[in-house]
Amino acid sequence: MSNNAAEQLQTDLPDLTAYWMPFTGNRYFKQHPRLITSAKGMQCFTHDGRALLDAVAGLWCCNAGHCHPKIVEAIKAQAEKLDYSMAFQLGHPTAFELANKLVKMAPEGIDYAFFVNSGSESVDTALKMALAYHRLRGEGTRTRFIGRERGYHGVGFGGISVGGMSPNRKMFGSMLPGVDHLPHTHDLEHNAFSRGLPTWGAHFADELERIIALHDPSNVAAVIVEPISGSAGVLLPPQGYLQRLREICDRHGILLIFDEVITAFGRTGNAFGSIEFGVTPDLMTCAKGLTSGTVPMGAVLAQGHIYDAFMTGPDGAIEFFHGYTYSGHPLAAAAGCATLDVYESEGMFDNARKMGEVLADGLHSLKGEPNVIDVRNYGLLGAVELTPIDGQPTARAMQIFRDCYDHGVIIRTTGDTLAFSPPLIIDEKQIETIIETVRRALRT
Ligand SMILES: Cc1ncc(COP(=O)(O)O)c(C=O)c1O
Repeated sequence: MSNNAAEQLQTDLPDLTAYWMPFTGNRYFKQHPRLITSAKGMQCFTHDGRALLDAVAGLWCCNAGHCHPKIVEAIKAQAEKLDYSMAFQLGHPTAFELANKLVKMAPEGIDYAFFVNSGSESVDTALKMALAYHRLRGEGTRTRFIGRERGYHGVGFGGISVGGMSPNRKMFGSMLPGVDHLPHTHDLEHNAFSRGLPTWGAHFADELERIIALHDPSNVAAVIVEPISGSAGVLLPPQGYLQRLREICDRHGILLIFDEVITAFGRTGNAFGSIEFGVTPDLMTCAKGLTSGTVPMGAVLAQGHIYDAFMTGPDGAIEFFHGYTYSGHPLAAAAGCATLDVYESEGMFDNARKMGEVLADGLHSLKGEPNVIDVRNYGLLGAVELTPIDGQPTARAMQIFRDCYDHGVIIRTTGDTLAFSPPLIIDEKQIETIIETVRRALRT
C-alpha cells in the first residue's frame, strides 16, 4: 500500500471518543487504535490496510471462519423474510428448527433448548432454572451454588458470583449470596507441559464433598464449571476430574451445570466438551460458536427431567417466568441453523481434531523459548503461560500480543498467558505461521 493510501485510511477513522469499550484499556486503545474493518475465512483486515491471521476465532466464537458464505446467505434470506416475531406466546419456525438440530447433536439425554442472547445470559438462565427446578420438586432449600476459582461465566451478577476471576468480581459488591468455590485445578508443579489432559489432580474434585458437607446437601442447588476453563487461560481438567464431580453431584441430588460457551461446537474436536469427556451434565450453557459469532445468541440445553419438572400447573399457564425479547431471534436462529449445517457438511469438527494435533506439536515446540513456563493444549484450544515481569503482571503477555499483531497474527492474552482458539477451518501452514510469529515475539 502506498503511503498516501495508508494515510487516507488513517484519516477515515471514525471519532473514537464516545464508545466506551468493553474489557479494553480505553485510553490506550484510543491512542493506538486497532480497528478490524472486514474479515474472510481465517483473516481479518484492519483500518490501515493490513491482513491478519486470526488465531482466536474472533473471541473464541467464529468457529466456521469469518463471513462463511452459507451463513451470510441464511442471515440475508431471513432478514428479508421475517425480521422479528414476538418471543413470548408466539413463535417462528426457525427457532424450533434450531432447537431440534441442537438437541440432536447434544449428548444423549439432553432434549431441550432454551434460547438467550449471550453466554452471560445462558449462565444466569441456567442458575435460575436450577433454583426453580428444586423448588418445583419441593426442595426449595436448595439455593446454594458452587462455582470454581478461576472460572469464567460471563458478567451477569449470577455469572460473576459463581465465577472465580477476581478482577471481574472485586468492584461489584456482595453479588449473589450463598456461593462457594471449588479450588481451580491448575498446578504447574505437577502438570507443566502436559500434552492434553493432565494425569495428576482428579482429587481436586473431592473438595466438593467437603463444601457440601459444610452446608448440608439439602441446601445446595448446583455446581457449575467449564469443562475446560477458557478465559482464565485454558486450564484443563485432570483426567477423571469431571467424572468425579458428576458422581458427587449424583450422590447428593445436586445439579451439574457445564458452561460450554467455549468448549461447544467443535473446539475439542467434538460437538460438545461433555461428549468428548464422556460426562453428561443436567444443564449445559452455550453461545459463541452456536452462530459462529455472526449474530449474538446463546442457549441453555437441559435434560428431560429438568424440563419435565417445570411442566406442571394449569393448562396455558406460563411454566418458567424467564425469557428475553430476543430469545430465539429469527436472524440468530437462521444463522445458527446454517452454522450447524456447515459444521457438519464441511467436516469442521474432524478438521479441528486433526489440526488440534498439529497445534499441539507447534505449541509444545515453544517449550524452552524465553519466559515460557507452561504449554497447554486440547483440540483447537491452546495456551502458553509466561513468567510475569516483576511488579507488572500481564505486561509481558501484552507485549507479545502487540508484537504478534504488528507481525500479522491476532492472539488473545489473559493474565500472562497467551491463548489460542483458531477457527476450525485452519490448516497446517496457518498454524505454522502462528507458532513462528509467537516464537519470534518471545525471542524479541
Ligand atoms: C465459559 C464462558 N461462559 C460465559 C461467557 C460469557 O459469554 P458472553 O460474553 O457471550 O456473555 C464466556 C465468554 O467468554 C465464557 O467463556
